[in-house]
Formats: sequence, C-alpha cells, structure tokens
Amino acid sequence: MKIIVLAGGLSTERDVSLVSAAGICRTLVERGHDAYLLDVYLGLENPPEHLEDVFTLPGHGLEIAGNIGTEEPDLEAVKASRKDQSPCFLGPNVIDLCRLADITFLGLHGGEGENGKLQATFDLLGIRYTGPDSLGCAVAMDKGFTKQVFQQSGIDTPAGVCLHKNSPDHALASTGLSLPVVIKPCSGGSSIGVYIVKTEEEYETALSNSFRYEDEVVIETYIKGREFACGIIDGEALPPIEIIPKAGFFDYANKYQDGATEEVCPADIPQETAERMMELTAKAYHALKLNVYSRADFLLDPEGNLYCLEMNTLPGMTAASLLPKEAAVVGIEYGELCELIIRKSLE
Ligand code: DAL
Ligand code: MG
Repeated sequence: MKIIVLAGGLSTERDVSLVSAAGICRTLVERGHDAYLLDVYLGLENPPEHLEDVFTLPGHGLEIAGNIGTEEPDLEAVKASRKDQSPCFLGPNVIDLCRLADITFLGLHGGEGENGKLQATFDLLGIRYTGPDSLGCAVAMDKGFTKQVFQQSGIDTPAGVCLHKNSPDHALASTGLSLPVVIKPCSGGSSIGVYIVKTEEEYETALSNSFRYEDEVVIETYIKGREFACGIIDGEALPPIEIIPKAGFFDYANKYQDGATEEVCPADIPQETAERMMELTAKAYHALKLNVYSRADFLLDPEGNLYCLEMNTLPGMTAASLLPKEAAVVGIEYGELCELIIRKSLE
C-alpha cells in the first residue's frame, strides 16, 4: 500500500508528532508498505521528476524523525523557527503526494492537524486519511465544548468554565469555582500551558501564562486522584492504563522524559472500575461522534468517582505511547495497531 505519513505542523506538539509519525512510518515500511514520512508544513521542496517515485525512495523520508525534549516547547519559538513564516499549513507537494497515496496516516498532534481543519480539507479533496472525521476532531479539540457535551451526556467531568482573554472579568470569583483549580489552554495538548493553582497569588500568573498559548482557557476544579487513560478502537475500549508520575502530575516533562513516569496496564484497579472507565470511554467516543480511534483521559478520586477530562483524537503514537501499550495488552502489537487503524479508516 502507498502511504504518506504526515508529521510536524505548527502546534506546540510538533516535536511529539515527529516522533509519533516516524515510529508509524518505520513500522509500516518494515511491514512491506511503500510509506513516506512527510513534514506537513515543510512539504517536499525538491521532489523527484515522477512524484510517485517518492514512495520507493530508500530513506522513506525518515531523516526528519526528531526528538522530544523535556522542556515544554514555547508556541512563539515554534512559529519563529519556521523557514519563511509562511502561514500556509500545507507545504509544497503535500496535497499532490497525499492524492497519490492509498491513504494518509495522520501522525499529527494538536493545532490544525488535529482540530478537524485538515480532515475537512482532505474530505473536500477526496483524500483518505486515518482517524476520526472533522466534526469529532473539532469538538474534541475544544476542551470547553467537550465539557458541555460530557455534561449533557451524563459523563462526569470536573466542573469548569471557559474564560476569554478579552472577557471583562478574569477574577476567580467570576468563575464560581474555588481553589484549587486547573487552568489550561482551551485547545492545547501534552499538558503544555497547564497549571495547577493552589493560591490566589498563583492564579493571576497561571492565567496570563496560559493565555500566552491561546485566547481562551478552561478553568476547572482540581481533582486530586489517580490518573488513567483508556484507548478505544472502532468503538471497543482497551484495558485502562494507569499513569504514575514519580513527582507532580503528568505534565510535559513527565510525559516525555524517560523513566519519569510509571505506566501500569492493565491498571491495578477493581474490575468494576476498569469496566466503568471503558464504558465511559465508549460513551464519550459516541457523544463526540468519533470514529476509528481515540484515547480518553481520566481521574479517579479516593471516593471512587471517575472524571473524564477529554478525548484525544490523534493520541500519541510512539511505540512507548499509552494507546500502543494498551493495545499490546490485548495482543495487538505496534505495527499491527498501525495497520488496524488504516483498515478501520478505509472502511
Ligand atoms: N496530545 C498527545 C499527543 C496525546 O494525547 O497523547
Ligand atoms: Mg490531550
């Protein structure tokens, strides 16, 4: 099969995407596919005379494979590092190459790659791609909308509100919430720009830091509890995985620094709790009109209450990421998982 694996983009999760997408491309090549790894923003400046020859190039584009640092990338720095400040998300030859492929594997995270815009563009162009459709991606990317959908669907989620940069009243009192709270960019990912706020003094600083990433943030009640994720493929939830950071919460450093977090799958929780989490994952997946695959993130408080935080429509796909680890527990190894996602996306 001819496959373009798209990587990069302009979101703060660009580096994570370069690693996810390289892992996907490598395994697809090992499994005999003609896969090519392409940076969606940089595109292919000097294509071969016959564009389709790209699919059999020996390097498979893997030279762009990157590394994830342990420091949170800064959005302004990500943008400033781009070659010519082009506002176009799609680099040279990207559309033509995706048109030549049997499918485009979206190894993208965050921003235009995950918020439904690329999906809608590809729909209009007749390009097949992996993962959920544009509507589900758009709604799930917005943590404020997601919260409303969860509340209306009977899926417990921490109480919270959206706050716009231009809103006249930024005071905590205006939100109706009390400390501690969590502040996060409305459409962020990988915990970038997320702050746990315990005091009034921290509130203003955290708010202005979070507004650096986006004009809208979500402020929600802080739930102290154990952290879990639950992947879902084609409507079937996988066994939940527990995330145990050695210090603090599952922030950027704990997500991507080797050895910073212990991950246990299947999670060491009562069967009944695991089943409830899997049911809630399926419920959230359907409520947000998702398809193919996604991953829900949860908190479990000491009283046994489960809170669904969000659905990730293009979850981390490095071989060490959460969803691939959950899939491995039910016997779906990484390469097989990538092919399963392709098959389900083509159905
Ligand atoms: N946004 C990151 C990649 C995740 O959900 O895994
Ligand atoms: Mg997320």
